[in-house]
Amino acid sequence: MSEVSTSIRKDISLYCSSCGASFPPDMRLLACTVCGEPLLVKYGEISTNPHMEIPVYSCNALVSLGEGNTPVIKMDKLGSRLPCGNIFAKLEFMNPTGSFKDRGTAMMISVAKGFNIANLVEDSSGNAGSSVAAYCGKAGITAHIFVPSSAPQPKLDQISVYGAIAHKIEGTREMVTDAASDFVDEKGYVYGAHKLSPYFLEGTKAFAYEIARHNLGEMPEHIIMPVGNGSLYIGAWLGFKELIFKGVISKMPKMHVVQASAVKPLVNLFSGNRKEEPIGITVAGGISVSNPPRSKLIGEILLETGGHAAAVDDEVILEWQKILAQENGIYCEPTSSSAFAGLEYLIRDGIIAKKESVLVAVTGFGLKDNLYI
Ligand SMILES: Cc1ncc(COP(=O)(O)O)c(C=O)c1O
Ligand SMILES: [Zn+2]
Repeated sequence: MSEVSTSIRKDISLYCSSCGASFPPDMRLLACTVCGEPLLVKYGEISTNPHMEIPVYSCNALVSLGEGNTPVIKMDKLGSRLPCGNIFAKLEFMNPTGSFKDRGTAMMISVAKGFNIANLVEDSSGNAGSSVAAYCGKAGITAHIFVPSSAPQPKLDQISVYGAIAHKIEGTREMVTDAASDFVDEKGYVYGAHKLSPYFLEGTKAFAYEIARHNLGEMPEHIIMPVGNGSLYIGAWLGFKELIFKGVISKMPKMHVVQASAVKPLVNLFSGNRKEEPIGITVAGGISVSNPPRSKLIGEILLETGGHAAAVDDEVILEWQKILAQENGIYCEPTSSSAFAGLEYLIRDGIIAKKESVLVAVTGFGLKDNLYI
C-alpha cells in the first residue's frame, strides 16, 4: 500500500459496529477481520461545530463535481392517492451523475486519491458504476466497473463515456460481484465497492446534514427511501446521529426501508421471515440485492429509529413512476418511484399518520433506465 497522503485525517480509524474491533484506515480493508462485518469510520474526536465530520482534512482534498445540496420540493399534488399534507421530496437525481450516489463517491474517491490509488474496481447495477466512473475520471484514477450485461443501456453508456473500463457480466447480480472480486484478486487492484466502503457512507452522511439545513419548518418525522445495500440509508442515519451529538437536531426521524416484492431480504429480516425465498425479477434494478452485506446494521437502524420495511409490487412501482411524471413533473427511475409506493403502503397501514411530515428520497433520474410504462 502506498504511503498515506496528508489529506487523510490522522485521527480516524475503521471500526466494526458488530464486535467493536478497530483498525487503521486502509482502502483495502472492507470487512472486520474478527467477525466479517463491513466497517464504519470512527473519528478520534467529534467537534461540536455544526459541520459534518469527513475523513479527509479539508474541502480542497475533495474530488468534487458539485454533488449534494439537492433541492427539496413539497409534494402537493398527490391528492387522494396519498392523503398526507406534509410530503417532501428530495430530488437526489439532480446530483451530477443523476443519482444519490455522488456524495458517497466523492468521499470514497477523495480517500482513494489520498492513498494514491491508481486503479479502482467497483461492481454495480449501473448508478454507482457511472458515478464512480465520473469521479475517477476527474481524479485520474482508472475505474474498472463490473455491471450486469442486462443493465439499462443509458447506464452502460454513461460508464463508457466517462472513460471507465466497463466489464459486462452475463448472469445474476451476485455473479457480477464474484467477477469483480476475482479481478481484484488477480490484479491486486483496490476494490472500491460502494456497498462495503466505509468512506462512501461518510459521503452519503451529507444527505442528513442537508435535510437539517433545509427550511422545512421542522425536521421530517419520517424518512423513506428505496434500500438495496443501504448506502444512503446507513449514511443518512450516521449523519442524523452526528447532528444529534452536535446538538443541531434533537430527534432521530423514523427511517423506513422500501424494497421490491420480488427481492426483499430486508423486509424478511424486519418481519422475522426466515424462509428461503426464490429471488425474482423486478423493474427496480437498483434495489435488486438479494444479500445486502450490511443487513445486520440496517436491521438495527430499523429497530432503533422505529422505521418499517415495506415491500411493493412492480405494478404499483410503475404506477407511481407515472403519477410522479404526469402530475408532479418528476421523472425518476422505477427504483426511485418505489419509495412512493412504499409510502402509500405505510400510510394505508396506519404506520405513518396523515398529519405527520415525511421526506422521500427520489434517488435516480428516469432517463437512466429503460422505459417500462
Ligand atoms: C436509483 C437508486 N435508488 C436506490 C438505490 C439503492 O441504494 P443502496 O443499494 O445503496 O441501498 C440504488 C442503488 O443502486 C439506485 O440506483
Ligand atoms: Zn467485527
